[in-house]
This record gives sequence, structure tokens and C-alpha cells, in this order.
Amino acid sequence: MKITVIGAGNVGATCANVIAQRELASELVLLDIKEGISEGKSLDMMQTSALLGFDTRVIGSTNDYSKTAGSDVVVITSGIPRKPGMTREDLIGTNAGIVKGVVDNILKYSPEAIFVLVSNPMDTMTYLALKASGIPKNRVIGMGGILDSSRFKCYLSQAIGCPATDLHGVVIGGHGDTTMIPLTRFATYMGVPAADLLDAETLAKVAADTMVGGATLTGMLGTSAWYAPGAAVALLVESIVRDEKKVYPCCVSLEGEYGQEDICIGVPVVIGKTGWEKIVEYKLNDEEQAKFNKSADAVRSMNKVLVDMKLV
Ligand code: NAI
Ligand code: 2OP
Repeated sequence: MKITVIGAGNVGATCANVIAQRELASELVLLDIKEGISEGKSLDMMQTSALLGFDTRVIGSTNDYSKTAGSDVVVITSGIPRKPGMTREDLIGTNAGIVKGVVDNILKYSPEAIFVLVSNPMDTMTYLALKASGIPKNRVIGMGGILDSSRFKCYLSQAIGCPATDLHGVVIGGHGDTTMIPLTRFATYMGVPAADLLDAETLAKVAADTMVGGATLTGMLGTSAWYAPGAAVALLVESIVRDEKKVYPCCVSLEGEYGQEDICIGVPVVIGKTGWEKIVEYKLNDEEQAKFNKSADAVRSMNKVLVDMKLV
């Protein structure tokens, strides 16, 4: 397996580090436009291999796409992150141009690759990658819901007083502060509904904290987070390269599922060696479906910017 990560910043380097440590590929290319950063971070990671015992070869590249040739999976994290007070949506103008250029370059050298989109606004960047590449929809996956679900489980575990790993909790919809939908009705602790363990007010607070989980960290850090985003990307990549068939909420193209079409948005999918293989359809109640429809409307209106920019 060969994996490429575009963007050697906070999220790209963190996910590359997890990918290397979990030996998800024999070769991992880290590419950035900034001179030296990907080479330096790759060499630093290679110097942990004797300490941590992995044999993934990590290679840095300053914008030389020939080094990415033959990649099975390409993760795109290049672009600007949000600063305090900014929404993910504020990034669209800059990041759309960057992501389109990256997709075009990758296709020249790795036409069979599975694309994992991370750059924000991620739902719109996934739609852009799908439309700009023309590759089959199953090979274009946006990562946001895995991170949001992990934040949901983190806050739930603190409220219930249990390990996050004993919880099931899923966030669907757009990857935005107001568009994501933590499915509180489906959240369980070892099969027991979270709603039976927490009062309505506490559960509502868990959902609200989840929705602003990224913004809370941006306020603390002055830029967006990287440990959980990097780990979430690596787990998604792991399910692809090991053909694990794990169900993760990911941003994928809908053609009527969940009542939506011509959109990429977060729903639970089976992830395996061909990309996303199947959409898992939850039976949403009227309130949840209404929230999902509203979320889709917001994502769709952001996608319109791509048309104005003549990118799709
Ligand atoms: P960062 O600023 O630390 O890293 C971005 C890197 O992209 C920089 O090193 C920059 O030089 C590079 N870059 C810019 N243009 C490039 C180009 N044309 N080709 C190659 N490299 C290029 O930012 P960070 O924190 O790593 O975030 C990256 C993106 O991921 C942001 O858009 C952020 O909003 C998004 N993000 C998405 C998450 C998600 O769950 N989908 C979670 C966290 C961040
Ligand atoms: C996050 O959720 C900003 O998308 C980024 O941390």
C-alpha cells in the first residue's frame, strides 16, 4: 500500500504520524507547498521508527507530485485552517482553489486512488473533488463525522462517567457548527440508551458541546485542532487499507438516500478497500429528518460558491 498526505501542517503531519505508527502503508508520502516542511517532518517521523518499531517509509516532497505516483489512498489536508471567530465556511474561497489544484495533480499520477477530503469546508470540498475528478463516487470520502462522533462520545463519557470506548454515538449531516446532527436518540452505553442515563437537559448540553467542539478548541488554540482530526483520518484510512468494513459517518455523495441528491454530506457508510461501499440508512424520525434536510440546504448553498468560482 502507498498512501499520500497532501499538506504537512497540523492535521496532515499528525495523521501521517498515526498512519506510520500503525504501519498502514509500506510507503507514505507527505507533500506540502512550503519548502522543506514535508521533508523535515518526514525525517523526524523516520527517526522515531527505531524507537517505536514501525517500518513504514515516510518520504517528504515539496510540491513534486511525481513522488506520489501510484498512491492507493490520498488524504487532502492542504489549505488554511480557521482562526478564532471564523467558521469553516469562511475558508471556502481560498481552499476551493487549493483543493481543485491538488486533485488535478494527483489524478495525473494516481488515477486509481481513493480520495479522503479533510480541508474545510469539508462537505463542499468533497463535492468539489467528486465533480472535478469525475472518478466513481465510492472513491471520494470526506472526513468530518468520525471526528464529530468522537467528540460526541468524549462529552457523553464525561456526562455518564464511563469510558468513551464503551459508547456508541453517531453524528450525521454537515461538518459545521450549525449543520452537524448528534443523534442523541441512537446513543447508547453498552446497549442502554443514553437518554435513560442522562436527563434531557444534560443530553442536550452534550449535543450542543459537540456541535461547537471544533470552535471551542479554535478559541483555546488560536487555530483548529489536530490530534483528534489526525487520528480520525488515520482510522478511516485503516478501514480502507485493511478492508475492515467498519461503519463510520463520512461525507459521501447521496443519490436519494436520506431523501437527498446531488450533494455530499455525512451519513454512516461501510468503509473498505474500494472506498465507501454501502450507505447505512437509519430510520430517522420527523424531527431528525427535518434537521438533516436543513443541514443539506446549508451545504447545498455553500456548494453554489463553487459554481460562481467556475470550479464545477
Ligand atoms: P495548517 O495550516 O497547519 O496546514 C495546512 C498546510 O497546507 C500548510 O502546511 C500549507 O503549507 C499547506 N498547503 C497550502 N496550500 C497548499 C497546496 N496548494 N499544496 C500543498 N500544500 C498546501 O492547517 P491544519 O490545521 O492542518 O488544517 C488543514 C485543513 O484541514 C484546514 O482547512 C482545516 O480547516 C481542516 N480541518 C478539517 C477537519 C475535518 O474534520 N474535516 C478537522 C481539522 C481541520
Ligand atoms: C474541526 O472540527 C475545524 O473542522 C475542524 O476541528
